[in-house]
Amino acid sequence: MTATKVAFTDVKWTMLVTLHMRAMDSRQAEPVLGDRFAAEAERRIDYDFGSWRMRVTEGDRHLVTLRAKRLDTWAAEFLAAHPDAVVAHLGCGLDSRWLRLAPPPTVSWFDVDLPEVVALRRELYGDAEGYRMIASSVTDPGWVEHLPTGRPLLVIAEGLLMYLTAPHVAGLLSRLTTRAPAGQVLFDAIAPWVVPTSAMLSPLLGAFRMRWALSDVREVERWGLRHRDTETLLGHHERVPSTLVRSVYGVFARVPPVRDALRAFRFDF
Ligand SMILES: C[S@@+](CC[C@H](N)C(=O)[O-])C[C@H]1O[C@@H](n2cnc3c(N)ncnc32)[C@H](O)[C@@H]1O
Repeated sequence: MTATKVAFTDVKWTMLVTLHMRAMDSRQAEPVLGDRFAAEAERRIDYDFGSWRMRVTEGDRHLVTLRAKRLDTWAAEFLAAHPDAVVAHLGCGLDSRWLRLAPPPTVSWFDVDLPEVVALRRELYGDAEGYRMIASSVTDPGWVEHLPTGRPLLVIAEGLLMYLTAPHVAGLLSRLTTRAPAGQVLFDAIAPWVVPTSAMLSPLLGAFRMRWALSDVREVERWGLRHRDTETLLGHHERVPSTLVRSVYGVFARVPPVRDALRAFRFDF
């Protein structure tokens, strides 16, 4: 089978980074996430995963796999309680969460990303019973019409909301939460100090311009959601197999601004 050539440079490039991190993790003797689908997808893409731009991001890979693990665990809890759920997995990139969680066919799962990303995704994964891809910007109000109504809704946004503006995040969440009687929203968010840091890095890496940050969960509660959990991903550093990285993360976990640079959140509605 010929590999698909990929040449993303903007925000779409970031999903190659997270895919590569999950693929690297899966090749470890004791992986955090153990996502073999990521390694398979990486093999089927013609892209230089050994480039320097990729390599400078590799130090963060355990943070990315801890984040994926945390969101998988919360999502699995929701799906166990609501086997009739609708799932809106936003900014899915090439993530194989649907395969990792293997929900029952009574769940309707929608993977949403920008059209070029979904076009690539379709070359790697097909539609299946209970599974569909939607090619759209999440900020476009029209795509939510594809979601069935009247069922519990699980919204998952991993590595996405920081690339949107606050009004876009507010509009997106309110469009989603008004479509279902009840549900949960799972996402990760950066601390405000990360925004200017990413603006400095963006000319170098070309893709890392982040905009939306969360310091106080009441901001999201003002949009009609109820805060349930916050997790500092570094708090789970004991799961990292590398002794060096585990020790560094352990030190960072004791410095609140660094510890809170990237956190996972669970909200009810
Ligand atoms: C850091 S990647 C994360 C991908 C995936 N969630 C993961 O963890 O591997 C960010 C993703 O958000 C997508 N994205 C960025 N802006 C978007 C938008 N306005 N609408 C839909 N997807 C968007 C990008 O195309 C990319 O796939």
